[in-house]
Amino acid sequence: MKVTTDGQTKNILAVWMEDNCVRMIDQRKIPEAVEIYTARTSADIARSIKDMIVRGAPAIGVAAAYGLAMAKNAGEDMQKAVDLIGNTRPTAFDLFKAISYMKANSFDSGAARRYANEITGRCKKIGEIGNMLIKQNSRILTHCNAGALAVVDWGTALAPMRIANSEGKKITVFVDETRPRLQGARLTAWELGQEGIEHYIIADNAAGYFMKKGEIDLAIVGADRIAANGDFANKIGTYEKAVLAKENGIPFYVAAPGSTFDFSLKTGDLIPIEERGEEEVLTIGEKRLAPEMSRSRNPAFDVTPSKYVTAYITEYGLFQPDNLRTLKAKMDADLFMR
Ligand code: MRU
Repeated sequence: MKVTTDGQTKNILAVWMEDNCVRMIDQRKIPEAVEIYTARTSADIARSIKDMIVRGAPAIGVAAAYGLAMAKNAGEDMQKAVDLIGNTRPTAFDLFKAISYMKANSFDSGAARRYANEITGRCKKIGEIGNMLIKQNSRILTHCNAGALAVVDWGTALAPMRIANSEGKKITVFVDETRPRLQGARLTAWELGQEGIEHYIIADNAAGYFMKKGEIDLAIVGADRIAANGDFANKIGTYEKAVLAKENGIPFYVAAPGSTFDFSLKTGDLIPIEERGEEEVLTIGEKRLAPEMSRSRNPAFDVTPSKYVTAYITEYGLFQPDNLRTLKAKMDADLFMR
């Protein structure tokens, strides 16, 4: 992804492997600073995923793949490394896909690089396919951050927007701020700004207002796990946006690579949902907002039923919820996905 800091433009990835370390953009620091965190052990990788130094389903998978290769090269106990990394965040299916890919490939560094390159290439393809849905002057709603930071490069939901912009289409993106961790206001807005794409950050509860006023033409979001019937988990708040989109006749697209589809789960009710610490809701930065005696609940994701999805944008093409069998057949025939 293109990043300009101190007047210098560079191309950097969200996660990469170098000198048997895993390096990643510290996403907790964006947009104030672009700092690189270096993980040297599987415990560092587990912490970086848990603390959301790296986040977003495909990027978590890539960090896990590189982390396991690094652990193997350093002579770590691999069962312990797998358990540590696997017990970090339960919802994103890419984490488990990456672990099984690395197990099947003897935790080899070359395999980790192949995994990262495959995911990145597939997300670029999602961008090319999704771009066809974007017209000149499209106004697009997105939720959370499903950009290059969440993948390694390109993004899922943001990949079509990057390509549309690079082809000279004028687009405007409405970015839900995405409480409590503000991935929209901090990360998506930063990525769009780096690309020079016009965007407005809106309060999470403002999406319905803009939809009803006819100011949103389509919505594109990412996913953390998609069940066999098309129900999908994504950042908390996605469900209500999808319901509002249907109510207002606005197409609602889910952009995700095959590595996010979990055909072993019949429906979205079976997707494990991470519940994070109360302090994420009760405080902003170091400052507590809520009365001392108040508690909070903080589910990180919700599940949107497939009936609200217009289509899934994947590297294999566009699929409607009632056509996911065709997608499954394509994935079954794809060596990387087995
Ligand atoms: O808790 P996060 O920030 O890891 O949640 C991320 C999301 O919900 C993204 O939309 C999803 O992982 C898709 S990323 C391409």
